[in-house]
Amino acid sequence: MISPILPPELKAALDAKLQGFSRTDAAQRSQKISTAYRAGGGSGTIKSEADALAYALARMPATYAAVAASLSALAEIAPDFAPETLLDVGAGPGTASWAAAEAFSSLQDFTLLDANTVLSRLALELARDSTRLADCRYLPGDAAANLAEVSQADLVVASYIVGELAESDQRKLAETMWAKARHALVVIEPGTPAGYARILALRQQLTELGAFVAAPCPHEKSCPLVAPDWCHFSQRLPRSQAHRQIKGAEVPFEDERFIYLALTRTPPASRVARVLAPPDIGKAEITAKLCTKDGVELARVPRRDKAAYASARRWRWGDAVMSES
Ligand SMILES: C[S@@+](CC[C@H](N)C(=O)[O-])C[C@H]1O[C@@H](n2cnc3c(N)ncnc32)[C@H](O)[C@@H]1O
Repeated sequence: MISPILPPELKAALDAKLQGFSRTDAAQRSQKISTAYRAGGGSGTIKSEADALAYALARMPATYAAVAASLSALAEIAPDFAPETLLDVGAGPGTASWAAAEAFSSLQDFTLLDANTVLSRLALELARDSTRLADCRYLPGDAAANLAEVSQADLVVASYIVGELAESDQRKLAETMWAKARHALVVIEPGTPAGYARILALRQQLTELGAFVAAPCPHEKSCPLVAPDWCHFSQRLPRSQAHRQIKGAEVPFEDERFIYLALTRTPPASRVARVLAPPDIGKAEITAKLCTKDGVELARVPRRDKAAYASARRWRWGDAVMSES
């Protein structure tokens, strides 16, 4: 599991850009951007260098944490996966590329695609200070159109972009991304019922094309959850003082809710259960909601089964774990 915290080079590059940037101005801009997102709009409201910086300050730590957790889940299931080339679709400030560089030391070649010029510029400026990303390529314009022109990459990542597209464009982009993924595709979306629904649709579309699910699900069958139940995960990360200032937040951490899907061209070597909610640690037993290859189950681990109980005490929401079934 890689750290959910921005790597020191990225943090330093962001801090340098934030020198002299008024927190009040950043707060107002990030508020405007969040309001546009909540109203169903996309990153079209990010129009200036200051907007891009406000977006990065407000959202990059959290989306980085979600991508880091998702890529870690893939690396855990496919420990031999050593991608050399990456396509970061809807890269924005380059968040997923930075996380992928941390998750896979094998990566050498990074291509970022995005339609937003000010976010692209910021991504390139931040990448200049990176040992790994300094030579990255940035393809401006519509990602689906640009993808059609590029070579396959070992790993394709799309973080928080699918929800910005119309439904028919989501399907088209999914198909193109899969076509360009030599070994794996990872898609991350906000942990909301709508984000979950988009991930489910993409999962169905691409498993029909032969994709295997490496994580979070231990199978390619239909999702066994029955509405109103749904699936998402949560990553806790520390809030910087600047982040607290612009968000008007009191607590020194935030919890990013997200949902992801890691697809591979070859079946994963193991099929482990996934913890779908925070386990309940009771006096007599631990109960945990698990997604197993045979469906969803409420696992009960009694305290008298000492070894199993000790191991279940370490289970966290989102973990891949060995279950009895
Ligand atoms: C919410 S941001 C996420 C950025 C980044 N991946 C992250 O996780 O921080 C969504 C990004 O998708 C980009 N985007 C949306 N539609 C696009 C399209 N059709 N082609 C290329 N980029 C697109 C936006 O410009 C924006 O940078």
